[in-house]
Amino acid sequence: MATIIDPSIPNLKQVACQLLNHNVAAFPTETVYGLGAIANSSEGILKIYHYKKRPLFNPLILHFSSLEQVQLYFTLNSTQLLLAKHFWPGALTLILTNPTKLGKQICKTSLGKATSYAARVVQNPIAQKLIELVNFPLAAPSANQFNHISPTLAQHVESSFPLNNFLIIDGGATVLGLESTIVKATANNTVTILRPGSITNTSLAKYVKVEQTISSQEVITAPGMLKKHYSPSIQLHINATTATSQQAVLAFGQLSSEEQASFGKAAIILNLSPQGDLSEAAHNLYAMLWQLDNPKYTSIAVMPIPNSGLGATINERLLKASSKN
Ligand code: TXA
Ligand code: MG
Repeated sequence: MATIIDPSIPNLKQVACQLLNHNVAAFPTETVYGLGAIANSSEGILKIYHYKKRPLFNPLILHFSSLEQVQLYFTLNSTQLLLAKHFWPGALTLILTNPTKLGKQICKTSLGKATSYAARVVQNPIAQKLIELVNFPLAAPSANQFNHISPTLAQHVESSFPLNNFLIIDGGATVLGLESTIVKATANNTVTILRPGSITNTSLAKYVKVEQTISSQEVITAPGMLKKHYSPSIQLHINATTATSQQAVLAFGQLSSEEQASFGKAAIILNLSPQGDLSEAAHNLYAMLWQLDNPKYTSIAVMPIPNSGLGATINERLLKASSKN
């Protein structure tokens, strides 16, 4: 069985030792939990792909403890530096193309089919400390089985990986609850969003010009592949207007009397944010999906969620979670 451990310094040192010995371990970040390996170990990185059942072409994000550390591995252009200064440490992943001599020690296995690198500086102090102890970036995807719901609690990771000698550092519920925003910074302070995430277009637009959004999965693979993602084991329906007594309901905001009548007979109703707060909904989204993902319900009916700000990211995740292929 996996072991959940508290983030004491001796425990973090034990995890660092395991990572240096080419093993994997799970750690909290401010977005979701990551399944990490030291980024110069092809052995460790291959274990990530194997345990997650993730296709080898799909590249991993590199996690750093500071901008200074990133700059030991990569040369950043002016747009990347501007974004790094405003959003790091935090939930922004930058696509980098210019490794230094040290950067070339990053194992190509972590890049999958990509020819560029995805990097972010984590804000979570436990993750920062772990990366400092390892003294090398950690390659880490979200710590869930490929295509399944992302983990926002140590217990989600535990149920995803029934492995022996597998350590999960418990940092409690992740603060943001949605993955990082992945952007490609092009010339002249312009960015393309490859994956919407915890940092909204509006926040980015304060500093750079935001171009059209494209899905990173479509960049990495043939268009149309990997439509299904973030999915519970039971079917999920978006923009639901009614529910049966066998369905679970994921609600948002105060329910009107008509909505109460339409959803009231459901087997269970969880509300992402009774106040209609999108940050609260983002924080709760995956944890509530984990709770409702139970075969005793026929499916999960999700009420409409406003498509502005973080709502756009939530809706992108729900659309993929509802896809059947
Ligand atoms: O918040 C997050 O980003 C979390 C935490 C653990 O940091 N990580 C995460 O990793 O969501 P993952 O592997 O679940 O998703 C990373 C996405 C994948 O869709 C991958 O295709 C894309 O990032 N990606 C990685 N490297 C890329 C690259 N060089 N170019 C384009 N997309 C890339
Ligand atoms: Mg993921």
